[in-house]
Amino acid sequence: MNSLRRRLILLLILSIVGVVGLATAAVISVRGGGPPPELTVPWIAQQMELVVRLLPGPIPDVLRVQFTDHPAPGKVARAETAMLNDILQRRGFDLLAIISEKPDGPGQTASVQMPDHRWAITDVPHLKPPGREWLVLAGWISLIVAGATAVSVYFTSVLIRPLEMLEAAASKIGSDGVLAAVPEVGSAEVKATAHALNQLSSRLRTAMESRMRLVAAAGHDLRTPMTRMRLRAEFLDEERDKWLHDLDELDRIADSAIRLVREEVNQDAVETLDLRKMVEDIEAEMVSLGHAVSIGHLDNVSVRAGALGLRRALRNLIVNAATHGKACSIDLALADRRAVLTISDNGPGIPPDLINKAFEPFFRVDPGRQQFIPGAGLGLAIAKEIIERYGGTVTLENRQGGGLAQTVVFAAV
Ligand SMILES: Nc1ncnc2c1ncn2[C@@H]1O[C@H](COP(=O)(O)OP(=O)(O)OP(=O)(O)O)[C@@H](O)[C@H]1O
Ligand SMILES: [Mg+2]
Repeated sequence: MNSLRRRLILLLILSIVGVVGLATAAVISVRGGGPPPELTVPWIAQQMELVVRLLPGPIPDVLRVQFTDHPAPGKVARAETAMLNDILQRRGFDLLAIISEKPDGPGQTASVQMPDHRWAITDVPHLKPPGREWLVLAGWISLIVAGATAVSVYFTSVLIRPLEMLEAAASKIGSDGVLAAVPEVGSAEVKATAHALNQLSSRLRTAMESRMRLVAAAGHDLRTPMTRMRLRAEFLDEERDKWLHDLDELDRIADSAIRLVREEVNQDAVETLDLRKMVEDIEAEMVSLGHAVSIGHLDNVSVRAGALGLRRALRNLIVNAATHGKACSIDLALADRRAVLTISDNGPGIPPDLINKAFEPFFRVDPGRQQFIPGAGLGLAIAKEIIERYGGTVTLENRQGGGLAQTVVFAAV
């Protein structure tokens, strides 16, 4: 009972059944209690007084009295019995009177001993509902519960709809952090919520795109002064090589930033790709560039992704393994309808306390250590962004015997 929907349904049912149940109970207590003994007992006393006065003559039927040798059976109602004896005595009749509960149902019987020792027996007027009425009441309450449940389920689903829409929209936030478009249909409130969400989404998209453009523009504009500096560096006698090296580094960072933005903005179409073929192609390309990349076992697996993007992401991971990790081997397995690509290398790995930061842009484990391996620190950030955009995951793990294992998992098709 922890969802808001269930709680609301329960609350509505309880309040409807509670209110109707209380109202019914109030009506029954007002209507079904029968007349109080202050009204009925004096009337019985008067009736018995008449009978005593009429005896030994015939007793008219209208008085509804029967004569027996014993008082009526049943548990004695003390208060009513005392009241009847008291009234008879005050009127000057020295008679024994008993009011008892009927043993076989609701109601009471009055028994009064006549002077000739016979017992005159009559019913005490009674209006309590007979037993069957409780059945009717139970049916009535069940009907209310059924009606209240139907009404509660309907109104709760209407009330909850905007919240469900929010939940669905939030769960569809893409790797770019932007909400998917929500259909603007339904009641006024639902439409307003959907409209607000769509506006928020489009504002977010605009803001992201303008920041992206800013990054690209900054990277682009850096190139002009860098070209001038490179020309001037040619005229330096001392430290010329260091200057040129630093300028190369700046160049790579600007280039990577521009490429990141291009990947973000120009997303290629999703298609079914032969992952095995792609891995083989990248391996061939890496080997031709002089990297120590080898292939272990490759299963035949296809996945759905953008071809250019995925190739770029895998290339980034494999280049890392071949450069930072010295030499690497690639395996591709089909397990549980998932494509599992593992890139294992023999390098130094990443210190465990930094491994979570490796995917952050511009992260480099130890810039000093890697001064001979050029890079901007963007390769992993870009790879993760692309892989997650197509519904995959990428994880890093230090291997038992040293080196890093990079694992990419996609749903296989
Ligand atoms: N296989 C690996 N073995 C050891 N360290 C690694 C490995 N892969 C990545 N790293 C560490 O993580 C850092 C970030 O990697 P990332 O690919 O993001 O940047 P980069 O390779 O330095 O530069 P580039 O932007 O050119 O890829 C690297 O600088 C390196 O310190
Ligand atoms: Mg890299």
